[in-house]
Amino acid sequence: MTSVSVLAVASEIYPIVKTGGLADVVGALPAALNEHGIATRTLVPGYPDVLKALPSAELLLHWPDLYGGPIRVLAGSHDGLDLYALDAPHLFARAGNPYLGPDGKDWPDNGIRFAALSRVAAEIGHGAIPSFVPDVVHAHDWQAGLAPAYLHYDHRPRPSTVMTVHNLAYQGQFSPDMLTTFGLPAESYRIHGVEYYGTISLLKAGLQFADRITTVSPTYSREIQGDDGGMGFGGLLRERSGVLSGILNGIDISVWNPQTDPQIAARFGAEQLAPRASNKQALQQRFGLEPSADAMLLGVISRLSWQKGLDLLLETIPTLLSEGMQLALLGSGDRDLQDRYSALAHAHRGRIAVVIGYDEALAHLIQAGADALAVPSRFEPCGLTQLCALRYGAVPIVSDVGGLADTVVDVDEAAVAGGAATGVKFGPVVPEALAHALRKANLLFNDKVTWRRLQHSGMTTDVSWRDRAGRYAALYRELVAAQQG
Ligand code: ADP
Ligand code: GLC
Repeated sequence: MTSVSVLAVASEIYPIVKTGGLADVVGALPAALNEHGIATRTLVPGYPDVLKALPSAELLLHWPDLYGGPIRVLAGSHDGLDLYALDAPHLFARAGNPYLGPDGKDWPDNGIRFAALSRVAAEIGHGAIPSFVPDVVHAHDWQAGLAPAYLHYDHRPRPSTVMTVHNLAYQGQFSPDMLTTFGLPAESYRIHGVEYYGTISLLKAGLQFADRITTVSPTYSREIQGDDGGMGFGGLLRERSGVLSGILNGIDISVWNPQTDPQIAARFGAEQLAPRASNKQALQQRFGLEPSADAMLLGVISRLSWQKGLDLLLETIPTLLSEGMQLALLGSGDRDLQDRYSALAHAHRGRIAVVIGYDEALAHLIQAGADALAVPSRFEPCGLTQLCALRYGAVPIVSDVGGLADTVVDVDEAAVAGGAATGVKFGPVVPEALAHALRKANLLFNDKVTWRRLQHSGMTTDVSWRDRAGRYAALYRELVAAQQG
């Protein structure tokens, strides 16, 4: 097997900077790809936390000016990841959320910040670092979307390019006045270029010019070719369907391992489920819920945004309460949702509890202690929390969309198609269907044998990266073979 080298380009990476699943994927793929003979280096912005994580980094490139200041590319490794950090103090020396300023709004220069990231990626693609000339440049989400466009318009020998869409809702739109600032030629401002409803879309740049497009589940790859799911890109994606594919995400099963997890109260496995009860107790205590083994405890770990459908869950609270269930929610995001959930917890102490914030350790305890995990998303490119839930024996209750549809097998679905059920799915994504799913889950929960079987099937489902990374490896190899042929 010949070795293939890949430059991944992304705006966040676990365990250094994370706002969502993108970071998990970008952080976990390199090790999994390595098992398939793929050597990955990942270019990330040199935010303060990134530079701190690379104390003895090596200086590889130095340019006196890129978008108003000097930049350096530093190489180093952290936690097994080979990283290139784009040290550009005028763009990235800002602590906190990578995209938002202290006012909670996008930084006004986000276009330039991520154009710089993409420009440097393109130059590395062209061979700016002689010791690492990648065969493939792999761009993740809009922040890296200009990389394939730059490589296209540079008209120089170039590596192959892959654009992965983690979420089509984030489109990286900027004023058309930015065209020259971005260093794009005038001819690029057209329908089959970067023009998008009178703006420049950096996501579109990637979708238009990458050799291959992938997204993070097969179902989402079909949904985004439709007018609704396409969110404005349906036509483009239909046109490019021949180079578009869906590859499911996995999770890092060493970080998410209930048999060794140091962040939970008691360790357990598919064949030793009994200790799980201690995690439920610990979770109830931590959240101030009534100690009860019999009440079904529903967990939620989520960004609070329209996408995640948590306003629909609010509407089903009467059902949840009348069924005798409990709710433990960990999340942050929309102010309105935060307030509504906090008010609800106040009104139903002991039955409903909410932690507003971001807390990795608590996320582990919820997965280990909740009986079920709800993911009622309106759309979901892949979703990672339901994969963690499967692995931890928290039965997922999910809407039948995107990656949720591809990774959870409903009880009724299994009865018809065979195979082992792992959860409960509902559709359409409306409160009535969710309420029905909650009642159905509670019935199953009260049948201990069936519930244990559901947990066991989930826990023995392969949610790792092993085979899924193999699909990326095969894609890269195809591209390299085409280059050589
Ligand atoms: P998305 O990327 O759309 O937010 P995913 O399900 O792909 O959704 O990934 C979310 C990731 O972020 C998971 O690793 C999940 O555990 C984590 N996460 C989300 N919200 C929180 C939170 N409030 N505290 C801790 N972890 C969270
Ligand atoms: C996005 C999507 C989520 C996906 C994650 C990683 O944040 O919303 O569904 O799992 O990216 O690909």
